[in-house]
Amino acid sequence: MRLSLRFVIPLLIAVGIFAYGALPLADKLMLRWFSRDLETRANLIANTIQDPLQDLIRTGNRRRIQEFFTRITQDERLLAVAFCPPNDGEPVATTTLPKEVRCSDLDRFTKPAGTSDLLQTASGPVFVSVRPLVASGPMVATPIGQLVLVHDMSFIARRSRETREYLFLFFVGLGLMVALVTVIIAQLSWRGWIQGLRGLLRGETLFLAPGRAGALPPTPPELRPIAHDLRQLIEDIEADHRSRDEDRLGWTPKTLREILQRELRGQEVIVVSNREPYIHMRRAAGIEVWRPASGLVAALEPIMRACSGTWIAHGSGDADREVVDAHDRVTVPPPPEKPQYQLRRVWLSPDEEAGYYYGFANEGIWPLCHIAHVRPIFRTSDWEQYVNVNRKFASTVEQESSSSDPIVLVQDYHLALLPRMIREAMPAATIISFWHIPWPNPEAFAICPWRDELLDGLLGSTILGFHTQFHVNNFVDTVDRFLEARVDRETFSVSYRGKPTSVKRYPISVEWPPPVELLSKPVEQCRTVIRQRHNLPPEHAVGIGVDRMDYTKGIEERMRAVERLLELKPEWIGTFTFIQIAAPTRIRIDEYRAYEMRVRELATRINQRFPEATHPPIILKAEHHQPDEIFEYYRGADVCAVTSLHDGMNLVAKEFVSARDDQRGVLILSHFTGAARELPEALIVNPYDTDECAAALDVALTMPQTEQRIRMRLMRGLLQDFNVFRWAGRMLLDAASSRRRGRVPEFVVARGGEQRQSGSVSTSGRQ
Ligand code: G6P
Repeated sequence: MRLSLRFVIPLLIAVGIFAYGALPLADKLMLRWFSRDLETRANLIANTIQDPLQDLIRTGNRRRIQEFFTRITQDERLLAVAFCPPNDGEPVATTTLPKEVRCSDLDRFTKPAGTSDLLQTASGPVFVSVRPLVASGPMVATPIGQLVLVHDMSFIARRSRETREYLFLFFVGLGLMVALVTVIIAQLSWRGWIQGLRGLLRGETLFLAPGRAGALPPTPPELRPIAHDLRQLIEDIEADHRSRDEDRLGWTPKTLREILQRELRGQEVIVVSNREPYIHMRRAAGIEVWRPASGLVAALEPIMRACSGTWIAHGSGDADREVVDAHDRVTVPPPPEKPQYQLRRVWLSPDEEAGYYYGFANEGIWPLCHIAHVRPIFRTSDWEQYVNVNRKFASTVEQESSSSDPIVLVQDYHLALLPRMIREAMPAATIISFWHIPWPNPEAFAICPWRDELLDGLLGSTILGFHTQFHVNNFVDTVDRFLEARVDRETFSVSYRGKPTSVKRYPISVEWPPPVELLSKPVEQCRTVIRQRHNLPPEHAVGIGVDRMDYTKGIEERMRAVERLLELKPEWIGTFTFIQIAAPTRIRIDEYRAYEMRVRELATRINQRFPEATHPPIILKAEHHQPDEIFEYYRGADVCAVTSLHDGMNLVAKEFVSARDDQRGVLILSHFTGAARELPEALIVNPYDTDECAAALDVALTMPQTEQRIRMRLMRGLLQDFNVFRWAGRMLLDAASSRRRGRVPEFVVARGGEQRQSGSVSTSGRQ
């Protein structure tokens, strides 16, 4: 009812105002019509009585003229008739002639154009018409006086009153009728809207795309805008709940697929990295498929298996070209596994590879970002190839995306310029970049002659991720120092060239639970197999190190720690062996070749130093190993040592923990890895402190099983909660909410006024 009154009251007021204005108009109109009628009437009477009156005037009998006039005024509307002779002669009139009408004063009724007019008399309003009387002679017409006809106008006032009453009733009726119809329509529409809204809230038509609605009624057109807003609100609430549920229930490939489906509407995912997940190599026996030693690949592979999509990477294998289709694509994983996604290979010429990969990326940025005391080398020719190859990757991304707003996951320091290049080509793309290596402080980064270009390139990203908050802070400080950018340290967002980039910490992790095939061989069997393989006795203590042959990995420091252990605790001579797996890497770079040489010499020297050892203290396996072989070592070893001098995260540490479902084994972990922040239950060491590392080895080798179990359980608990699906899922969820926020109009108040502008959110940490 209250709703109806809201419609009816304003409506009645509007009708009342209209009626109030319309009534005087109607009055005026009626008066004009009646006056015109009386004019016509007066003409008629004057014409009709012209001849008999002239006859009577000629007789000069005033009494008969008066009787004639009295007869005429029998008509109820004609009040009085008078004859005014010319030259102020004695007038003849009916007794009803109002005294206000005088023959001497007829001019005012003939002026200006009319011959009659309204006059207010003591007995009421009258209408006076004056008509000349003319005697028609044989030659000329002679005026013989004037005929005055006075009509009673009081009937007009009566009629006007009646009309006003009728009109008033008409408007009242009209108002009520309109109000009634309005109320009925409002009630019906209201009920329809309520029903529609209830339907929307129940989700009947909310999430159904056109054509998928089936038997359910479609959203009424008038509810579409609100359905749209409601959908977004519900999605936000659901996303919030879901992400809490996901954190509680655990992150799986299915969770990731659901996020893509629900939050990102099944958007395609494109991963871009330099290193490819599968390398085809020609060997004597045919083509072999290698899994590269790369933390990046280890983390991204399960994500791509879950999300499908396309992975764009440099085709670096010597048989890579033999297996691709006409579009340089190959479906992976290769048989006998089930294919899950597309690998699109990008071909680089020897010059491009030398300048971009070996030169700028690995002789420049890599040592620049890893504080491992190797001097970065920056050459202009390398930089040019770096720009050139990044452009090549950008155009491949464009070719591979089937929409204008794909989700592109740009990986690592090889492709720092790519986010900006993609942003320029596809402004609506969601670009999530991840920097897998450390980010140094601004002073250290400033060494790079192209530091501004690198920062600009990365700030083309929607989201830029690092493993640790320390690296996030360093990046933000670097931007703040060198670019004209707006840095918000509360939300960690950087606005540069009109677009915001959210800079956040996303600690990378491993697949959890680990792939069953990697855990299929029992731990006892792994222990036996690796000892037999290296001719070690069954109870021999074994330590394991798994790295690329890289100077940042602290392999030399680790070996020196083994040497020191044997010096300090000779009981380990011949009873403990450290197996170091070191995959060859970047061997065209002098520094890497020299490093490999030093490592080999050191291993030899240490082994020679303890000739009494029946079993060598160090076994160096400087060759490529497949993941299943590496897992065998993880599972069969007593201790795993990760002594990187600097490392973004280091997934070897997490892989070792994930491999130990027997809850045994000890992890020694460098303080300078991102992983050390998440795995404090490991024995945390400073790799430069040889004595500390030696002591850690001794503690690890003598640690009681219960303590091993307690530490391992805590570390495994962390991996269970923070696995690689969560790493990717969190970034995708953040990307989804940034897409949603990007649709909210921006609130801007114009300077000095209340004027409000709206547009797309662009500078408030959103995109
Ligand atoms: C590090 C980098 C990765 C790289 C990997 C292996 O983990 O962050 O981007 O793939 O090393 O290095 P490589 O040069 O063989 O690709």
